[in-house]
Amino acid sequence: MAILEIKKYPDEVLKKKAEAVTDINGDLQRFIDNMIETMYNANGVGLAAPQVGVLKRVIVVDTSPRQENQSLIVLINPEIISSEGEILSEEGCLSLPGFITRLKRKEKVFVKGLNRKGKEIEIEATGLLARALQHEIDHLDGILLIDKISPLKRELFRKKFKTKK
Ligand code: NI
Repeated sequence: MAILEIKKYPDEVLKKKAEAVTDINGDLQRFIDNMIETMYNANGVGLAAPQVGVLKRVIVVDTSPRQENQSLIVLINPEIISSEGEILSEEGCLSLPGFITRLKRKEKVFVKGLNRKGKEIEIEATGLLARALQHEIDHLDGILLIDKISPLKRELFRKKFKTKK
C-alpha cells in the first residue's frame, strides 16, 4: 500500500468530472487500498479519486471515529437516488486545508453504487455519513465545497487563500 498525494485547490484536476468505472480489476483494488490508506493517514472521513488525481468514480468514506455504528465504505460509481430534508452543518475538505464552512446539505440520502467486489449496494445515510457521501460524490463531478457557498464567502476564501500561499 502507499500514501498518495492529495491534490489541493486550485489544482485543475479537482474541477474535472470523473468517469464511470467499467472494469473492476486488480489495479483498481490496489488503487482503492491506497485511497483508504491515504484517507486514514490524513485523518479524513472521506476521499474521492479525483482528490488524488485519478478521474474515476470511486469514493471511500469512514465516519466511524465520529459517528456510531459506522465503518469503512468503498463505493464505485455512486449515485444519490433520493434524499430528504435539509441540515446546516460545518464542513471541511482535505483539498482545502484549513478551510471550514457551514453548508446546507440533504439530511438523509439513499445512495447506490458498487462495492469493491462489483456487487450492487444501497446505503441509507443520515448525519455525518450523509454529509460525507454528498461531499465525496460532488468531487466526482468536479464540485468543491467552495462552489456551494455564497459568492461573497467565496471571494473571501480566494483572498485568504492567496495570502496564505
Ligand atoms: Ni473534499
